[in-house]
Amino acid sequence: MSKLVQVENVYKSFGDVNAVNGVSVAIEEGQFYSLLGPSGCGKTTLLRLIAGFEQPTSGQIFIDNSSMEGIEPNFRPTNMVFQNYAIFPHLNVEENVAYGLRSKRDPSLNRNKLVDEALELVGLSGFNKRSSNALSGGQKQRVALARALILKPKVLLLDEPLSALDKKLREQMQSELRHLQRAVGITFILVTHDQEEALTMSDKVAVMFDGKVAQEASPKELYEFPTSKEVASFIGEMNFVNGNIVENKNFTVRSEIFGEIAIDKSRVFGNASNKIILGIRPEKISIIRKPSRSKAFITATIIDVSYFGETTCYKVSCGSNETLTISSQNSVDQINYSLGDKIYLKADTNNIMAFSN
Ligand SMILES: Nc1ncnc2c1ncn2[C@@H]1O[C@H](COP(=O)(O)OP(=O)(O)OP(=O)(O)O)[C@@H](O)[C@H]1O
Ligand SMILES: [Mg+2]
Repeated sequence: MSKLVQVENVYKSFGDVNAVNGVSVAIEEGQFYSLLGPSGCGKTTLLRLIAGFEQPTSGQIFIDNSSMEGIEPNFRPTNMVFQNYAIFPHLNVEENVAYGLRSKRDPSLNRNKLVDEALELVGLSGFNKRSSNALSGGQKQRVALARALILKPKVLLLDEPLSALDKKLREQMQSELRHLQRAVGITFILVTHDQEEALTMSDKVAVMFDGKVAQEASPKELYEFPTSKEVASFIGEMNFVNGNIVENKNFTVRSEIFGEIAIDKSRVFGNASNKIILGIRPEKISIIRKPSRSKAFITATIIDVSYFGETTCYKVSCGSNETLTISSQNSVDQINYSLGDKIYLKADTNNIMAFSN
């Protein structure tokens, strides 16, 4: 696949703030790509650099193999959807959508047809004459999408387009946006600080901290093989415990909770010295009824219970001062445990990762 958007060693500073601090990413044509990271990590700045609303302090951006240096936003093959529905309240739906055609002076353009097509794409057929004030939040955001899609940009840039919507609607729009992206085949670059949103929607995710890309990978790879403690704790939940390396050849490590285990080299991240941090996801630890003598098990006491319907999350204390969080599926035969219960645990040690301290 060809690389449609190439960001090469880009820096952007505002005074002494290094908002984007040496980013290189390559986004393939037709990909649903997300920039994910905490507030202030530089996501919006990177998106605005791609759109041309900001100029890099250094580094280069190519779209479709052309350098974007000195190219104004409306001459780039990009369009942007903003966080707060940037639709005009005094214009009706079709006027808002047709606004996306403002830079096209071509009189042969069939504006009505293009508006109808764009409205159909976002599921708002027939809403042409509706006043913008008579739209729900989700509908406003669809109008903004239609306006951005009407010119069929090569790349659609979306800056937290769903963050103002309530949870249910946001989930529905996530799925619609994904379907829309597949249907139109346009490359989408989505900015979000919501890791669940990034994981469920994207082909590829770049996790950003402090103006840098910490890891760029598929959602599954990010979850299962996070290359640093920071990424591991930002993506989903992760238990961390201290450990020591016992032997380097098979990477045998010792920790109070898990005893002595060997960790597969593919799950060792960073330059591990003697002291390391072990990580295991809450769903990779299960509560067992009666441990058999031959099996390694952990004894624990429940210190907190959070019920989520489908799952229950237990916080447990395992001796001294180590605690673990366990996520347990509420299947039909599942026993519910209460505060203070003493339980036995089994960790899926194949899923334990090691990070440099
Ligand atoms: N025009 C500007 N002038 C000065 N500083 C800026 C400007 N734009 C962004 N910054 C700073 O650059 C850093 C990155 O900002 P950016 O808006 O890219 O973050 P973000 O990841 O989009 O955060 P959020 O999730 O809160 O939207 C922040 O420290 C911000 O204060
Ligand atoms: Mg932002």
